[in-house]
Amino acid sequence: MRNLAQAPLKDPSIARSVALFRAFLREQTDPEHCYGLLARDAAEQLERYLTLHDRVVVDIGGGSGHFTEEFRRRGAHSYLFEPDAAELAARGQLPEGAVVADGYLLPLADGVADVCFSSNVLEHVADPQTFLSEMVRVTRPGGLIYVSFTNWLSPWGGHETAPWHYLGADRARARYRRRTGRDAKHTLGENLFPIHIGPTLRHVRGRDDVSVVAARSRYWPFLAHAVTRVPGLREIATWNLLLILRRSP
Ligand SMILES: C[S@@+](CC[C@H](N)C(=O)[O-])C[C@H]1O[C@@H](n2cnc3c(N)ncnc32)[C@H](O)[C@@H]1O
Repeated sequence: MRNLAQAPLKDPSIARSVALFRAFLREQTDPEHCYGLLARDAAEQLERYLTLHDRVVVDIGGGSGHFTEEFRRRGAHSYLFEPDAAELAARGQLPEGAVVADGYLLPLADGVADVCFSSNVLEHVADPQTFLSEMVRVTRPGGLIYVSFTNWLSPWGGHETAPWHYLGADRARARYRRRTGRDAKHTLGENLFPIHIGPTLRHVRGRDDVSVVAARSRYWPFLAHAVTRVPGLREIATWNLLLILRRSP
């Protein structure tokens, strides 16, 4: 009998966006479900452009390994690179074959990956352009780069302090501390950076080592591409930008 939990997530569709949003609401209490679903969704998005079976897929900033696991389940040779040992160990055991490495300086030769993947990492690095350049370097000519990030003016831009970051990062952080008695995990300028959609799109379109295959909202069920074309509005309404880039020959 067909396992409904493993049924394909049709992207775009309202059912898919609702399922992802509901999983996200339960992220704290059921991270396995949330990240398992997100990983399956990302793998299906990638499989619209190439089959993952037998491909070399590198997952940069892959945390505790949900995405790498899903790529392997689909037959990819997937490798996880993550600089934070605590993130790697978040599920109790280390993901098999994980490498402690910084995305700015990957221990990989040029052009080894069919797919270089990074989910929700770009907003956590101070120099996203250098991070992207390193992703491009390790991707083979014709290979794909999947990069998604939550921009600062997204309703989720402040992460756990959202949406109060609209009133300023310091104020949002102070409010979080007052409400929870804990410090927020993210501090603007330390491990969270104000990245924007317009400048990022201009940057990738101006590069001569990649072409832009898709630039869209990662989660929206409709107008996912269109929303990224409207200056101003896109900074708030895109929520999370997904770029699929192809390494130039
Ligand atoms: C929000 S988590 C995303 C984890 C996973 N990719 C996902 O989508 O669920 C951000 C990850 O980026 C990693 N990270 C931060 N700076 C990095 C860097 N310079 N190179 C590679 N990863 C980095 C963090 O350690 C963390 O695991």
